[in-house]
Amino acid sequence: MLEPPVLNTGRTIPPIGFGTWEIKPNQAAKKAVLAALKAGYRLIDTAKIYGNEQGVGEAIRESGIPREEVFVTTKLWNDDQGYNRTLEACRTSLQNLGLDYLDLYLIHWPASTRRHPSWDAMKQLKEEGLILDAGVSNYTIDHLRELQERSDMVPAVNQVEFHPFIYEQQRELLIYCAGQGIVVEAYSPLSRMAREPHQAIHNIAREVGKTPQQVVLRWCIQHGTVPLPRSTNPRHIEANLQIFDFELSDAHMKVLNSLSDGERITWDPEGMG
Ligand SMILES: NC(=O)c1ccc[n+]([C@@H]2O[C@H](COP(=O)([O-])OP(=O)(O)OC[C@H]3O[C@@H](n4cnc5c(N)ncnc54)[C@H](OP(=O)(O)O)[C@@H]3O)[C@@H](O)[C@H]2O)c1
Repeated sequence: MLEPPVLNTGRTIPPIGFGTWEIKPNQAAKKAVLAALKAGYRLIDTAKIYGNEQGVGEAIRESGIPREEVFVTTKLWNDDQGYNRTLEACRTSLQNLGLDYLDLYLIHWPASTRRHPSWDAMKQLKEEGLILDAGVSNYTIDHLRELQERSDMVPAVNQVEFHPFIYEQQRELLIYCAGQGIVVEAYSPLSRMAREPHQAIHNIAREVGKTPQQVVLRWCIQHGTVPLPRSTNPRHIEANLQIFDFELSDAHMKVLNSLSDGERITWDPEGMG
């Protein structure tokens, strides 16, 4: 594996994580997360709104892997924003997960101006030791600038949609985050397989002897992001980790970068909140 990325708080984060959106009910989430931990993932990404924190937590506890070796992330949902609600929601998520601390707690969306008191509450949660790092998700450069004007706590992570089809749209955000020491996590890195991988991705995959999915995940890594692929298929779960034994050339990266057509999987947070 690559050297793990270092957060602006000095802690490290695994270079790839396991996504759990839509893996429900809890029993299915438990099974998938157990398979992921067994395969070697050490970052698990969930959210209160995914409705599977309980299953995720059971898998982490039953895996037998020491708690400090698993990087657990969950997220504050929009309805829970606000200072007191954030404190309460974090405790609820910890209870659901059956854990005493989170490695990373993220504001899920910059959905309303209540994100400001939510961020203040994140600072409080960090001081109490309930979360080791605080971050955001779906924040644009404007949202990040606004946050930094109000607070001296810089987010450790910004989790955003990132895959070749929106590279151009996210390029400046990547540069901005790198400049601020904010690690970017790539969600929907496989575009949810909602579209057939482009022929150019197939061509590169053939050239490097990998699958199109492995090529795209490797592209995310070479852009300095932490991809969070999701799968319930044990073969895919394992295959998605096999991306540390090859490298894409500059020419490959250019071809993949050029596939941008701006088609997003989720909402565009531009102007949100
Ligand atoms: N912060 C946010 O607002 C936000 C938004 C969206 C997602 N996320 C996070 O990011 C994670 C990943 O994003 P995502 O779930 O939207 O989508 P994704 O990881 O891009 O794609 C998941 C889809 O890809 C398929 N897949 C995975 N590996 C494959 C492989 N090797 N070959 C073929 N198909 C494969 C999966 O099917 P199989 O199960 O059949 O493998 C599943 O249908 C989420 O689970 C969540 O944790 C966060």
